[in-house]
Amino acid sequence: MKEHIGVVLGNREIADGAYLLEMSFDKLPLSKGGQFAMLEVPREDCILRRPLGVCMADSSYAAFLYRLKGKGTHALTTLVKGDEVKVTMPLGNGFPIGKFENVAIIGGGFGVAPLYLTAIECGGNARIYNGFSTKKQIMLGKEFASVGKLTLCTDDGSAGFHGFPTAALESDMAEGYKPDAIFCCGPEPLMKAVKRLGEARGIPTYLSLEAHMGCGVGACLTCTCKVAGHNKRVCKDGPVFLSEEVYQ
Ligand SMILES: Cc1cc2nc3c(=O)[nH]c(=O)nc-3n(C[C@H](O)[C@H](O)[C@H](O)COP(=O)(O)OP(=O)(O)OC[C@H]3O[C@@H](n4cnc5c(N)ncnc54)[C@H](O)[C@@H]3O)c2cc1C
Ligand code: FES
Repeated sequence: MKEHIGVVLGNREIADGAYLLEMSFDKLPLSKGGQFAMLEVPREDCILRRPLGVCMADSSYAAFLYRLKGKGTHALTTLVKGDEVKVTMPLGNGFPIGKFENVAIIGGGFGVAPLYLTAIECGGNARIYNGFSTKKQIMLGKEFASVGKLTLCTDDGSAGFHGFPTAALESDMAEGYKPDAIFCCGPEPLMKAVKRLGEARGIPTYLSLEAHMGCGVGACLTCTCKVAGHNKRVCKDGPVFLSEEVYQ
C-alpha cells in the first residue's frame, strides 16, 4: 500500500446525488473487491482523506462511486479532467474472492460501490441483488448486469423486484438456489437482515462495515469496533468481517 497520484479522467453525476470519479494512474497495484482507498480532498480545511470503496480498478485506472454527504464529498465534485489527486490504495482486506464458487452479492444504495469490482472478480456464476429506494437512485445497473445475474430491487416497486434485496434472494432460494457464500455491503439494517438470513441457513456471510476513519491504515484507532468480543480496526482488520463476528 502506498500513495499514488491519480489524474482525473472524468467526474460525473450518474444518479441523484451520486458521482462516478474516474482516474488514470502510472502504475497501480491490483485491488481486490471490497478494498478501499483514502482520497485527498481538494479543500484546505479537509485535512483528513476520505475513504471510498474501489468500484473499478486495474493497473492504471480506478473509479469511485460516491454520494454527496458533507464538505469532503462536495469538494470532490469540483474535480475536473486533468486534476491530480493523491490516493492511498488498495487498503483493507476485501472479500474472500476465490474461496467460493457460487456467491450471492447483496448491495444496498451506495453499498454497491465496492461490489462492482467484487462481482467482476467472482465471475459469471455470481448472482447480484442490488436494492435502491427508488428508480432514480439506481446506479451501475447496466454494468452489474454485464458481469453477473442481476436482480434490481426497489423499495417502492418503481423498477425491478418490488421489495428488499433479501426478499429477492429468499425468493430465489425458495426455488432451489443455494449460494456457497453471501457478500454484502450496504446500510446497517440491510447488513443485519443479511446476517440473519445467511446464518439461519448456514451460509458463510461476509459484511463490509463502515466506520469513521482518520488514517485508513491502522495507526489512529478512530475506526475501532467490537469484532467477536475484541477491538478491531475496520480499516486494517476489515472492512470485511464474517457475519458471526459482528452485530452481536
Ligand atoms: C471503508 C469505507 C468505504 C466507503 N466507501 C464509500 C463509497 O464507495 N462510496 C461512498 O459514497 N461512501 C463511502 N464511504 C463513506 C464515505 O467515506 C463518507 O460518506 C465520506 O467520508 C463523508 O465525507 P464528507 O466530508 O462528505 O462528510 P462529513 O460528514 O462532512 O465528514 C466528516 C468526517 O467524517 C468522516 N465520515 C463521515 N461519514 C463517514 C462514513 N459514513 N464513513 C466513514 N467516514 C465518514 C469523513 O471521512 C470526515 O473525516 C465509505 C466509508 C468507509 C469507511
Ligand atoms: S482509521 Fe486509523 S486505525 Fe483505522
